[in-house]
Amino acid sequence: MELSKRVQEMQFSPIRKFNPIAQKAKEDGKKVYHLNIGQPDVETPACFMEAIRSFDEKVIAYAESGGITVLQDAIIDYFKMYGMDYKRENIMITSGGSEALTMTFLSIINEGDEILMPEPFYTNYHTFATEAGGKLVPITTKAEEGYHYATKEKIEAVITPKTKAICCISPGNPTGNVLTLDEMKLIGEIAKEHDLYIIADEVYREFAYDGRKVTSFGMLDEIADRVIIVDSVSKRFSACGARVGCVVSKNADFMEGMMKIAQGRLCVPTVDQIGAAALYRLPASYYDEMREEYCGRRDAAYEELMKIPGVICQKPGGSFYITVKLPVDDMEDFLMFLLTEFEDNGETVMFAPAEGFYITPGLGKDELRIAYVLNQKDMRRGAELIRLGLEAYKNK
Ligand SMILES: Cc1ncc(COP(=O)(O)O)c(C=O)c1O
Repeated sequence: MELSKRVQEMQFSPIRKFNPIAQKAKEDGKKVYHLNIGQPDVETPACFMEAIRSFDEKVIAYAESGGITVLQDAIIDYFKMYGMDYKRENIMITSGGSEALTMTFLSIINEGDEILMPEPFYTNYHTFATEAGGKLVPITTKAEEGYHYATKEKIEAVITPKTKAICCISPGNPTGNVLTLDEMKLIGEIAKEHDLYIIADEVYREFAYDGRKVTSFGMLDEIADRVIIVDSVSKRFSACGARVGCVVSKNADFMEGMMKIAQGRLCVPTVDQIGAAALYRLPASYYDEMREEYCGRRDAAYEELMKIPGVICQKPGGSFYITVKLPVDDMEDFLMFLLTEFEDNGETVMFAPAEGFYITPGLGKDELRIAYVLNQKDMRRGAELIRLGLEAYKNK
């Protein structure tokens, strides 16, 4: 018996694959600062559980395949805050942004189709593309340039007759790069000229700092038919385990195709949708508070990381990740050292080696990503442990 070629081609998540080694370090008595995964420590707003507690049905029935209307309506009102106008038929509820992306790829990609992907990128796109038989084509970016990719030259250089879509994660994971509305317009013009879909992964939409405006491809009416927005409650509302997200699009054909897949998987858990509806109705002040909290964490982590000799990093403008380049040949080997040999006062740190965030072989070996999902004190300590660990690694 043999497994499918598809699954044989897939990789394990570079974010999760070192977990057993970190677990062993903990069993050996070390404290490990987890800067490897985007799991915030911020409390999920109480309205999530309150809404679930007051849900009083005798039967937890299947929901509509496109989602419950209470949640769709809450999402419609949420987008209105930013001047975007959607109807229920434009919103499909999914099990997190992950299912939104899987279903989107399955709906628009044929075997061998190419999808433009600025690299480094959220590593699970490898899985989404492989599942659908698509090929990710990199738009390579650099730490020295703040991982900037939104130029006509860079994007058009990799477009071929097989290109079907461009994926834009903004604010970006793992780079923290935030697209301006002008950059989105430029990408929109390119997409129009080459007849491409835009997969706009905006799960970090509000995480934009230093006075940057919240931007969305949904603000551009002229390309509304080719924009597919992916959204999620995971990060914005610190509700990763709720597994609720959505796809938002004004392209009726696309939404009809998506519905065939959605009906095949029946529905998203009803109770989680009830909680998510309450989250989407939080007032604008919630986003301001959250932004301030994360901005403080970014500053703390960035300041400490910049103390590492040889570090290359431009201060990221959004999301909750920082990717840096260090004078290290093999980041996975350095991480193994941190988890198995190094400690400072019984403590060590874990990050995500960036190689798995690239398509181009060999790139990212000297880069790492941290998620600033812990409080400022822990972020400083985590970044300090990377610096101290690097000193010890170099003197090994
Ligand atoms: C850019 C991006 N898109 C999508 C997801 C998927 O998130 P979820 O399925 O929890 O909504 C993540 C999770 O880290 C992400 O970083």
